[in-house]
Amino acid sequence: MDTALQGNNSGPAKGVSVRIEKLNKSFGDHHVLKDITLDIRAGETFSIIGPSGTGKSILLRHIIRLETPDSGQVFVNGDPVFTGGAPSLRSYRSSMVFQSSALFNSLTVGENVGLWLREHRVCPEPRIRGIIAEKLAIVGLEGTGHLRTSELSGGMKKRVAIARSLAMEPDLVLYDEPTAELDPITTDELAETIVSLRTRTGNTTIIVTHDLNFALYLSDRIAMMHQGEIVEVGTPAEIRESGNLIVQRFIRTTTKGLHGG
Ligand SMILES: Nc1ncnc2c1ncn2[C@@H]1O[C@H](COP(=O)(O)OP(=O)(O)OP(=O)(O)O)[C@@H](O)[C@H]1O
Ligand SMILES: [Mg+2]
Repeated sequence: MDTALQGNNSGPAKGVSVRIEKLNKSFGDHHVLKDITLDIRAGETFSIIGPSGTGKSILLRHIIRLETPDSGQVFVNGDPVFTGGAPSLRSYRSSMVFQSSALFNSLTVGENVGLWLREHRVCPEPRIRGIIAEKLAIVGLEGTGHLRTSELSGGMKKRVAIARSLAMEPDLVLYDEPTAELDPITTDELAETIVSLRTRTGNTTIIVTHDLNFALYLSDRIAMMHQGEIVEVGTPAEIRESGNLIVQRFIRTTTKGLHGG
C-alpha cells in the first residue's frame, strides 16, 4: 500500500529518538544525500525545510526504509535501522502521510482509516469502529466515515490520511509536504491539528516541507537542507535569526513570495 504503516508493538505511542548518521545516497552519478547527520529527540516535532530537489523526500524515505543508503546509518532509539542480515523486529511503529494522501478511492473514508487495524486484526470489530470514529473526530471529520474518498476536497483527503496514520498509534509520524495543495485556512487548521496531536500522543513528528511559515509555527527545531546537505539546525527563533546566507536567502524569497512580490 502507499501509506507506509510499519511496526509490531501495540499500546499507546511513546515517541522515539531518530539519529541519522553520515547518510549518503546517490542515483547514478547524482550524489543526492551528502553525509547527512541529524539528531531528532523523542517526542520532538522536527521539520526539514529546503528548496525543491534538495533530497528532503529521499531523506524521509530512508527513515522508513523505503530507500537503502549507500553508506551511513539511521538509528531509532539507538537501534540501527539498516542491518546486513535479516530484517530486525522493530519495537516501534511508524507511519507516513504522503504528499498525495494516497487514499484508496474504492474504499470509504472509514474503511481507509480502519484498514491497518483490520489487516492486522488488532482488536475486535466494534472497537475498530470506535477507533475510526475517534480518529476522524481528532482531525475534525466526525460523521464522514461513510463518504467515498472521491467525494472529498484535497484538505479533507489530507485529514483522512492523517486519521489513517493515527489509527495505528504511531510512535513516529512522518509528513511529506503536508501543506501542498492546501489553501491558507486549511493549512492553519492542519498546523493546529498537528500541534494538538503532538500534545495528545507524545509521538515524534518529522515534517518535510518547503512551507517556511508552517515549519516556524509548529516545530521545536528545524533543519535547513540545501543541495543534499544540512546547512543549519535550530529552533524557529534561531532559524529566523540565522547568519547562514542560504537560510537568509530562503527566508527572504519565501517571505517575498507570500506577500506577492
Ligand atoms: N529513484 C530516483 N532515481 C533517480 N533520481 C532520483 C530518484 N529519486 C529522487 N531522485 C533525485 O533526487 C533528488 C532529490 O529528490 P527529492 O524528491 O528528495 O527532492 P525534494 O527535496 O523532496 O524536492 P521537492 O521539494 O520538490 O519534493 C532529485 O534531484 C531527484 O531527481
Ligand atoms: Mg519532496
